[in-house]
Amino acid sequence: MTSGAAIGKAARSIRAGGLVAFPTETVYGLGADATDDRAVAAVFEAKGRPRINPLIVHVAGRGEAEALAAFDDRARLLAKRFWPGPLTLVLQRAPDCPVSWLASAGLDTLALRCPAHPVAEALIRAAGRPIVGPSANRSGRLSPTTAAHAAAELGGLSAMVLDGGPCRLGLESTVVALGDGPPVLLRPGALDAAAVEAEVGPLAEPAPWAEAGPRPSPGMLLRHYAPDSPLRTGAASARPGEAMLGFGAVDGELNLSPSGDLAEAAANLFAMLRRLDGRTGIAVAPIPERGLGRAINDRLRRAARR
Ligand code: TXA
Ligand code: MG
Repeated sequence: MTSGAAIGKAARSIRAGGLVAFPTETVYGLGADATDDRAVAAVFEAKGRPRINPLIVHVAGRGEAEALAAFDDRARLLAKRFWPGPLTLVLQRAPDCPVSWLASAGLDTLALRCPAHPVAEALIRAAGRPIVGPSANRSGRLSPTTAAHAAAELGGLSAMVLDGGPCRLGLESTVVALGDGPPVLLRPGALDAAAVEAEVGPLAEPAPWAEAGPRPSPGMLLRHYAPDSPLRTGAASARPGEAMLGFGAVDGELNLSPSGDLAEAAANLFAMLRRLDGRTGIAVAPIPERGLGRAINDRLRRAARR
């Protein structure tokens, strides 16, 4: 676990415009001062991330979030119910919001999240400002779920890495946009969408990119979360040369969850794909399309895209 001294040092680095990889309950993030244009630009640069893809802004609590964006009743309800936790809310920016426009890619909305991890919370509080935190991987690659994976992704970059151990959930946060009309599920994630629907009613699918209306989440359109090896989903068994990633009774060289537990599978997903990466191909057993399985399958479909 990370010491208070390390967190203090990391917070000073953030305040000075530096980058810090930090643990959350979902995946490791690459943190920078969200109000500092140059620091935010450095995050895009470090990740090789297209600048049209906005970043999530991390806050220590609901009070801080309400100073940055317009919270309506539904947003307040969801934040009360699920924060701190793996839910990101996309809301209208407040008129005097100090967050860099670069962070939100010029959109008039902001993605806000309050992570449930003691190191993340301590870092945000010590820095005393909102922190952008895209997953700490090179753009398009597997998200890191350990400090070692984050360090490997960032290579020679001069970013401090705070070690908070392996991420408990292992899949990115669920992203929900609240505007006029029904809430929209922009990214299925570690919080089961059904839990959100129980609070605010049915979640709409994002509008197709070309249609008028709210812009879909830019990150949804890209090949993403991908190992270097070609990946095949819904596989009953491996073909010659392929490594098999099993689930439940469909066994393989590694198994996401021998007992068929979706939460365990989510926590293992990125780390196991990393272990099998570099092989001729990776075949992944079928994952049921329910609960967390929806988010796992979302990541696998994007990873399989070529
Ligand atoms: O679990 C997580 O959310 C992790 C940890 C580190 O907190 N962070 C993360 O950030 O996954 P990132 O940047 O890799 O993913 C952000 C997602 C992208 O799909 C992006 O397109 C979407 O949120 N997003 C951010 N701001 C948005 C906005 N204003 N409107 C629509 N989508 C937005
Ligand atoms: Mg990411």
